[in-house]
Amino acid sequence: MDATLPIVAIRDIGAHAGERVRLRGWLHNLRESGKLLFPILRDGSGWIQGVAFKKNLAPEAFDALRGLGQESSLELEGEVRADARAPGGYELDIRDLRVLQAVTPERPYPITPKEHGIEFLLEHRHLWLRSQRQVAILKVRHCIIQAIRDFFDQDGFVLGDAPILTPASCEGTSNLFEVDYFDDKAYLTQSGQLYAEAVAMAVGKTYTFGPTFRAEKSKTRRHLTEFWMVEPEMAFATLDDVMSLAERLVAFVVSRVLERRRPELALLERDVSKLEAIRTPFPRVSYDEAVTRVNQAGGAMEYGTDLGGGDETLLSQQFDRPVMVHRYPAAVKAFYMEPDPDNSNLALCVDVLAPEGYGEIIGGSQRIHDLALLERRIAEHKLPTEPIEWYLDLRRYGTVPHGGFGMGVERVVSWICGLEHVREAIPFPRTIYRIQP
Ligand code: 4AD
Ligand code: MG
Repeated sequence: MDATLPIVAIRDIGAHAGERVRLRGWLHNLRESGKLLFPILRDGSGWIQGVAFKKNLAPEAFDALRGLGQESSLELEGEVRADARAPGGYELDIRDLRVLQAVTPERPYPITPKEHGIEFLLEHRHLWLRSQRQVAILKVRHCIIQAIRDFFDQDGFVLGDAPILTPASCEGTSNLFEVDYFDDKAYLTQSGQLYAEAVAMAVGKTYTFGPTFRAEKSKTRRHLTEFWMVEPEMAFATLDDVMSLAERLVAFVVSRVLERRRPELALLERDVSKLEAIRTPFPRVSYDEAVTRVNQAGGAMEYGTDLGGGDETLLSQQFDRPVMVHRYPAAVKAFYMEPDPDNSNLALCVDVLAPEGYGEIIGGSQRIHDLALLERRIAEHKLPTEPIEWYLDLRRYGTVPHGGFGMGVERVVSWICGLEHVREAIPFPRTIYRIQP
């Protein structure tokens, strides 16, 4: 190997046509035909086919490549050739190589191009991530998270991350993970919202972005026990402001992915025309209207209950973009939601439902800012006040109308990528069935 040659990422190979370079990566596949070997190398930035002619390589190098197992790590040296028939438009004419670690037939790579069952793949998630499809999903996820951060940054929001170990619940007590905290108990956070409210009173507009936890017994394709949530919170905001922010954020994220990650969407066989339709404004439907629409579409919703997954699908199928359902009955929602001044049985809240049956991606509301009312709600929900006394302080010292929402990252990745199950939307999914690997 010529150590003076540049090491090139496969993504940038086009800038080196006709040059001799070195590539480093893993053997994705190897086809052999006599004096010719066709390895496909992947390096995380892309895939490229190499051609090794026996006569062009030292015999030891040629022999080292022959029979090499999938996912062996290696370095290739060769000349970059433009080739219209090659998948990425380029091929590497291999002249030398070095094997870092050979995967051998005695212990072959467990994941082969043949079909594997989902349980097997999840068991091997640490290796499954190397597949083209999983790499594409990781890259779209990365793009979505970066877009979220850019959006809030450009909009004047200040990051104010919330703690993960908390003394109290935020979204009800039925799905809390309890952990030992020295001589006490703590809970893994279900949402950073209560803390975001405190930060909003300090900086005006804030967002928290981190992992959140729900000990959910749900076995649906939408539920994880650990998921990432971004939660903006704004002082002096109404439900209307919350809805405007939600639709702008979602439209921004979708357009960013369309701008930067078309090849990944193509690999995932995503119908991008469905994403291209995502433009503001999003339809706004009251809970009352939603019940009527669901039942007209063949559902059997009882007024006063929350929308189930099937109901969400029946409703969202009626629109070509996300639909914002607002003003649910307060009884099915969290303790902190401001009542509708026109009908105190309703909460000033919104759920954003993604199209194509992906269901709720955002839940948010205006918050109760009146101390006495908030205390009443806490009592009605039978929540202990002591761990959230500090939260009541926000209503004692310069309380203002305010609001925000939480967007589940994996739900959004799942929808944008067109995945069947949210477990593929995070590198290491946690569900009621699985905490391995
Ligand atoms: O609707 P949720 O429960 O709202 C809250 O937690 C509020 N405190 C947020 C806020 O106003 N700051 O959750 C918000 C979003 C959901 O719309 C969904 O996208 C996601 O978090 N989510 C889940 N994602 C994956 N698995 C689960 N088990 C989820 N539970 C909620
Ligand atoms: Mg919700």
